[in-house]
This record gives sequence, structure tokens and C-alpha cells, in this order.
Amino acid sequence: MGFSEKKRMELESKIMSYRYRDKDSDQRKTYDEVFDEKTLMTLYKLMTNNVIDVLDFPLATGKEGNVFRANTIDGKRLAVKIYRVSNSTFKNIQKYIQGDRRFRGVGKNHRRGIYMWAQKEFRNLDRMHENGIRVPRPVFCENNVVVMEYIGTKDTPARHMKDVELEDPEAIFTHLVEQMRMMYQDADLVHCDLSEYNILMLDGEPVIIDVGQAVLVTHPMAQEFLIRDINNITHFFNKHGVESDKDEVLKMIKGDA
Ligand SMILES: Nc1ncnc2c1ncn2[C@@H]1O[C@H](COP(=O)(O)OP(=O)(O)O)[C@@H](O)[C@H]1O
Ligand SMILES: [Mg+2]
Repeated sequence: MGFSEKKRMELESKIMSYRYRDKDSDQRKTYDEVFDEKTLMTLYKLMTNNVIDVLDFPLATGKEGNVFRANTIDGKRLAVKIYRVSNSTFKNIQKYIQGDRRFRGVGKNHRRGIYMWAQKEFRNLDRMHENGIRVPRPVFCENNVVVMEYIGTKDTPARHMKDVELEDPEAIFTHLVEQMRMMYQDADLVHCDLSEYNILMLDGEPVIIDVGQAVLVTHPMAQEFLIRDINNITHFFNKHGVESDKDEVLKMIKGDA
């Protein structure tokens, strides 16, 4: 007997409560889609392996999946991102996996494509973390589930940069440009979806999240994606009174200034 019957029942009743919280809403549909049979088995496995003890509560419901807070056996917290195994998820990720030889052979197998996508997020997190970029520390990845450091305090999840009053926008901007430089030059990656929505603020420090779509700097679209990231960030900080020259920022990040 792999995992205890008690845990299995705990998990099931927890998931049931998510499902029935909003009986008629879209959310119900979302939970039904997220927790398909195979995903439940993956979660059981995480529990048997003592990666997590229990899923705590949902932190976010996105179009490609859900993020939950989880507790470990020794009372620590983690974040668990679960990609929904569906056609629409697959469609959204396709432009990032096309032409990437690591994804050759995925073909039209959606489940396999999405598992590889979760794996890609995990590896990107690892690569960034190893190179000193402030991202959630990766913990575990299995199938469509990515487990990582939980960004938040004991009481509340960290807020998005877009919702936080920034004490010293100039300093945070400089810090973020440095993080982007490290990402480009040390980790050889471009985030590709960097904005105030994918940056959490913890103790006044930005933490970059949502790195599944990040590509290697050699990806044919990398430069275009990098410019888009820079546009988002400079635009946001401009609204907070920080003047900057996009071309200068680009040079700084690429190191040919
Ligand atoms: N490690 C984490 N710690 C705390 N909250 C997180 C963490 N990862 C994600 N979240 C929350 O879940 C939301 C969705 O996660 P994200 O990785 O941005 O996925 P997506 O935007 O693709 O749905 C985030 O905006 C944030 O609110
Ligand atoms: Mg996001």
C-alpha cells in the first residue's frame, strides 16, 4: 500500500470542497479540469514521497492551470503549480516549443507536451536559481505538477508588483535590470512574459515568477521577446516616475554597452 488511505481521503475531500465551493461557476469547471484522474495520482505520489503533506488552498486560478499553497510534513509551506492537461493549454504553449529541439517528437500528444512544459518550467527555475536570480527555489517536478518555494509570509501570499506601493521605484528598477542581465548573460535565458504581473514583492524585494515560457538566448524569437520584456518593465516604472532609455537598458542587459 503506497500512500495511506487517510491521506487519500483527505485529499479527495479537500478537492471536493474546492469543486463545490462555487457550484455553478466557471471555477467548478476549472477544478474538474485540473484534477483529472492522472493528476490526482501525481498528487498522491507527491504525498507518498513526502514532498507535500496536504494542499492548503488555491493561490490563483489561471487559464493554463492552478497554483496552490501546500504544507509539508514538517510544517513548511510550498507552492504547487498544476498545469491543466487540455487542448487550450497546449495551444498556448505551442509557439514556445516549436523549433525547440528539446520538444521534438511531442507531435500532437498533448499530455506529453504539457508534461514537458512543466519540466521546462522546473529546469528554467533551476537554471535561474543556480545563477543567483531571485526566483522561487525549485523543489520537485512530476508530470504536470511543479513544486517550488512559496513566496509569501506566514499569513499572506506575496502581492504582485502591480498592487504594491513601491517605496523606492528607482532602486527596484535598477535591481530588476540587473536580474534581467544575469538571466541573459549567466543563465542564457529570456523570461518572455516579464511584467508587474509576474513579479511578486517579498520584504521589499522583487521575486520573478512564471518562468515556463522562458527561452534560451539562442531561440529565434529571443531578441523580440527580450525587447517586449524591456518594454513592459520600462513602461511600468515610467508610470512610477523612473525615466529610462530602452536601448540603453537593452545594451546593459546584453552586455554590449
Ligand atoms: N511560488 C509562488 N509563491 C506564491 N504565489 C505564487 C507562486 N507562484 C505563483 N503564485 C501565484 O499564482 C499566480 C499564477 O502563477 P503563475 O506562475 O504566474 O502562472 P500563470 O500566470 O501562468 O497562471 C501568480 O500570479 C501568483 O499570484
Ligand atoms: Mg503569471
